[in-house]
Amino acid sequence: MTAEDPQKGRDRPEAETGAATALAHPNIALVKYWGKRDERLVLPWTDSLSMTLDTFPTTTRVRLAPGLRQDTVTLDDELLVGEPHRRVVAFLDLIRERSGRPEKAVVESRNTVPTGAGLASSASGFAALATAACAAYGLRLGSRPLSRLARRGSGSAARSVFGAFALWHAARAGYDDPDLGSYAEPVPVRLDVLDPVLVIAVVDAGPKPVSSREAMRHTVDTSPLFRSWAASSSADLAGMRAALHRADLDAVGEIAERNAFGMHAVMLAARPAVRYLSPASLTVLDAVLELRRNGVSAWATMDAGPNVKVLCRRAETERVACAVRAATTGGSVHVAGPGPGVRLLGEYR
Ligand code: PMV
Repeated sequence: MTAEDPQKGRDRPEAETGAATALAHPNIALVKYWGKRDERLVLPWTDSLSMTLDTFPTTTRVRLAPGLRQDTVTLDDELLVGEPHRRVVAFLDLIRERSGRPEKAVVESRNTVPTGAGLASSASGFAALATAACAAYGLRLGSRPLSRLARRGSGSAARSVFGAFALWHAARAGYDDPDLGSYAEPVPVRLDVLDPVLVIAVVDAGPKPVSSREAMRHTVDTSPLFRSWAASSSADLAGMRAALHRADLDAVGEIAERNAFGMHAVMLAARPAVRYLSPASLTVLDAVLELRRNGVSAWATMDAGPNVKVLCRRAETERVACAVRAATTGGSVHVAGPGPGVRLLGEYR
């Protein structure tokens, strides 16, 4: 749409009526989300708590395209088809329904995360998409409703709306509508005292064998340990909140590590087992143990993949990164601190 020639785009199907770009960062859960009690609304069984990173942002641009017959979505210049495309369309449908605007959209998303790094690019992806799409469709949402909406795309995206530490409530008391009761909010932490860093060991950049969506469903349905994991995770959450309040990195790390091991244990007990950890992951976990034996406060967490994230104090980053690098043959090591929440970069209508 140009000022010199306002008629120019009229007969072109892609003529713009609204466009916006947003930037979001991935987050790593220190108390994990694993299992949905409602698949359609993406309502989890348990509360979870994460740190948003300052690295690997996703940038997403959404442009309304009246006349276009279906949404066009590219991720790193690759056209999405099949299930990944269907997921984005279903998400945009929610925004079309709420905004009352039926136009299809062109979505261009770009990840900076190393391919297959298991760094929750769906969290940064759907947080950026929610923000850009709402702006493009003229839907003004505060950060809490935005977090609820991002949740519908990918559960963990609810937390990437916020910077640093965020808690995603599974079901906040006092809401009759369960959709309204499930959102993330920031957890105040004295970052200068805690000064946390995650050293990320990408031991295997291949695609994960089972999607987290599939694996969660299978775990909830078949793992005899699921109920007890959910109960111990809520105790972990209470402990984590207290540890963060005290800015006590040792306690934060200890709880994060046991919570992640619990999540992997519950998957291993599923029938058949879901196993994301590989021998290369165990080598890094051994290095973390060795660091602790040598008096370094370093704690591991792992998600739906073999890569290991090691929490430590910023002052000890080099020592930890060095040990993790030595244990990560053939992979890559990255360092991330607490990062910002999602932000709108530009808007045009
Ligand atoms: O949001 P999803 O569907 O990609 O699931 C994320 C699950 C974990 O990363 C394993 C844990 C978490 O809380 O982020």
